[in-house]
Amino acid sequence: MGSRSGGHFRKSALAVLVTAVLAALSASPVHAAPTRYEAETSPAACAGTIDTNWSGYTGSGFCNGDNAIGAYAQFTVNASSARTAAVGIRFANGGRTARPVNLVVNDSTVASPSFESTGAWSTWLTKTVTVTLRSGGNTIRLDPITSAGLPNLDHLDVEVGANLPSSFQWRSSGVLIGPKSDATHNIRAVKDPSVVHHNGRYHVFASTTNNNGGYSVVYLNFTDWSQAGSAQHHYLDRTAIGGGYKAAPHVFYFAPQRLWCLVFQTGDNAAYSTTSDISNPQSWSAPKKFYANGMPQIIRDNIGDGYWVDFWVICDSTKCHLFSSDDNGHLYRSETTVANFPNGMTNTVIALQDTKFKLFEAPNVYKVTGSDSYLLVNEAIGSDGKRYFRSWTSPTITGSWTALADTEANPFARSNNVAFDGTAWTRDISHGEMIRNGIDQTMTISSCNLRYMYQGKDPNANDSYNFLPWRLGVLTQTNSTC
Ligand code: GCU
Ligand code: CA
Repeated sequence: MGSRSGGHFRKSALAVLVTAVLAALSASPVHAAPTRYEAETSPAACAGTIDTNWSGYTGSGFCNGDNAIGAYAQFTVNASSARTAAVGIRFANGGRTARPVNLVVNDSTVASPSFESTGAWSTWLTKTVTVTLRSGGNTIRLDPITSAGLPNLDHLDVEVGANLPSSFQWRSSGVLIGPKSDATHNIRAVKDPSVVHHNGRYHVFASTTNNNGGYSVVYLNFTDWSQAGSAQHHYLDRTAIGGGYKAAPHVFYFAPQRLWCLVFQTGDNAAYSTTSDISNPQSWSAPKKFYANGMPQIIRDNIGDGYWVDFWVICDSTKCHLFSSDDNGHLYRSETTVANFPNGMTNTVIALQDTKFKLFEAPNVYKVTGSDSYLLVNEAIGSDGKRYFRSWTSPTITGSWTALADTEANPFARSNNVAFDGTAWTRDISHGEMIRNGIDQTMTISSCNLRYMYQGKDPNANDSYNFLPWRLGVLTQTNSTC
């Protein structure tokens, strides 16, 4: 980045800009800081032993509860006011079967989460539950329902929640990820990012377009946004995923089967591949299709001259839902049971509709932890021809959806509520994904300090769509109320 001239070290203007943007990014809180309560730290209690034999725990150990009904672990957590809170429970279950527990808050059982096998005692995962806390101290007890007892418990991360605001303000990073070509790939654009943060690394999947207008999917990982630009790009057309049209990935961990799932569009269908190791791009399975009979009739009846694009999965405790768009004003939703997923997608309905450009594509649906609502964001094309996002909330995944910030004047994310450090490198805030606070199929996000990874482009680019120079950046919310 830097160049030497006349014996003085000079940074290029770009390097200065990139450094400033990265400094601004890292100075902002990454999440609302949750408060961590370690299982081994008093007043937490563990009916068992505090062990250190399985690596990967935080603090100085973890609670290994006795294998018995009644052998509970209890935490005491504080809330400054009576609110809902997101409680992230970090656990490992190296046994073969799930370990269900009663979640007892201030002596009332509020939920019965089940801690599925994580495959190994040194593989730790976080399950997030939403609970209502009272002002002051609260006890949170995990009380095993079966004689297998508890999973091993590392800590609780408690984030006292807030409702989402009804308007949003953001600051954008500069370009963080751009195309990287190699001997066999002439990459023109990187777009449609999907991202999970897992065991200290960001794992990013994105569409690529090449100089022939062809689409494929790329994977990269890095520990910090400052390294996103130098991460190696792995082209998934060189894996069992294969060549041909593949775009708009959505990645998540499907906890019931302990598999990572990569969902993408193939033009005529939605497809998925799976792996047990997200960091190994060669490990993805050959794709399979979601819809055995191709495009559902209700989509055929409504798509007009649009395209069937942008598949998104979210599950609650009983059902998994597959959302998609038609570039013609319709948001569709299909469903299957969690037990059957990924098979059996059926009952396709129109989840939301509007005029073509106001409900164009790129839907995301999230569970907002620490609140009781789901958030839908969907991409629109504005009166200025630029892309932006509208938003809605609903108490359930099936709707109905109530407008949150859904206009050009009060958008979820648009050029008019996004500030840039220096020159605005894009006026489009287009297809992307929230940086979630979990990894699994429940698609959880915090209501605090949202971050949205998106695609943008040079405002002066006037290529046809498949040749536009898309790049990736991250928005950080600047008007968080918590
Ligand atoms: C093993 C393992 C423990 C775990 C226990 C269990 O003994 O080493 O860490 O707690 O299984 O099944 O609960
Ligand atoms: Ca145990």
